[in-house]
Amino acid sequence: MATPHNRANPGDIAETILLPGDPLRAKFIAEHYLEDAVLFNDVRNMFGYTGYWNGVRVSTMGTGMGIPSISIYTEELCRFYGVKKLIRVGSCGAMQPDIKLYDIILAMSACTDSSINNYRFDGGSYAPTASFDLLYRAYEHAGSLGITPHVGTVTSSDTFYTIDGEDISWQQWAAYGSLAVEMESAGLYTTAARHGVQALSILTVSDSLVHGQEVSSEEREKAFTTMMEIALQLA
Ligand code: HPA
Repeated sequence: MATPHNRANPGDIAETILLPGDPLRAKFIAEHYLEDAVLFNDVRNMFGYTGYWNGVRVSTMGTGMGIPSISIYTEELCRFYGVKKLIRVGSCGAMQPDIKLYDIILAMSACTDSSINNYRFDGGSYAPTASFDLLYRAYEHAGSLGITPHVGTVTSSDTFYTIDGEDISWQQWAAYGSLAVEMESAGLYTTAARHGVQALSILTVSDSLVHGQEVSSEEREKAFTTMMEIALQLA
């Protein structure tokens, strides 16, 4: 049985899935990290593959950008395909001065300017939170690689482009300790919680709102490798 956005059959997708925003990243993960990878989805070019990493069955699929997109794909993964561990591997913009380009952030929780949960909870504000088990293991594994990730809350924003004076400034989130801005984690954590499954966002810093710096496209690959090493250990 397919869904409107996924042509996989039940059983085609592993219990653990790595979720980059970009579907071509999912293709890259399949080609570089997985053995015997088989394509299970190409609806809307949202490529998904299942293969093996160190003998463990693992899938990867793009999510697209933003909370609505990741919410659609992850809802279907949980509801129709029995996925149990959802690991986002994404990028983010740092909002704290001590966070550098290429640093790794483990998103313990995700604030959001999206109204998805106000609607869902009739005006109440839900706190989308990572799986402690995945968070703890990711932190431990990063340590064994000699990396100390930043751990804390991030902000999942509905807007990438903002115009001065028309939005709540990013500094307001930063003042309350948010480490970085991205666009998906609050949707991922909320969906996973509803289905009683585990989720974690592992993020590489691709730009700094504080220092106005940006990672070059060649350098993105290097940063991505570290994040993947951490993510694959969670399978
Ligand atoms: N804003 C939103 N999402 C992002 C950013 C950003 O600055 N950098 C990487 N993902």
